[in-house]
Amino acid sequence: MKVMKKVLLAALIAATPMMAQVKEKIEVPYIAFPIKMGKGFDVVQANCLMCHSFGYIINQGRQSKKFWEGKVNKMIVHFKAPITDKDKKIIVDYLFKHYGNGKEQ
Ligand code: HEC
Repeated sequence: MKVMKKVLLAALIAATPMMAQVKEKIEVPYIAFPIKMGKGFDVVQANCLMCHSFGYIINQGRQSKKFWEGKVNKMIVHFKAPITDKDKKIIVDYLFKHYGNGKEQ
């Protein structure tokens, strides 16, 4: 994150003199990122995005805790995702909170 901030800052500084020459107002389009932020998001990002986009998660719709636990296990067992037990719990909690249907089973 720190590196990102530095890169952003450098880009801002580099862009400043150019912006001063443009007279009309520049609007930066806001692009909504469809995944829900929240506790555990950083862990999901670190553990799931290395192989595929969030599309696979979002496309499942609202599911039970058991379903999400099963999916994370599937990633670990079948696709060899290097996810620790500690992270697994955080991920399942995140998925169930934001993409859950309220049912444990
Ligand atoms: C090591 C690579 C890898 C990692 C890491 C990984 N996945 Fe996957 N995931 C896959 C592959 C491969 C597929 C299957 C793609 C296909 O079938 O086209 C998949 C598919 C899925 C699907 C679609 C449903 C299904 O059963 O195939 C979901 C949901 C999913 N992943 C969730 C996750 C979540 C949540 C994480 C983070 C905890 C994660 N994945 C991390 C490799 C990975």
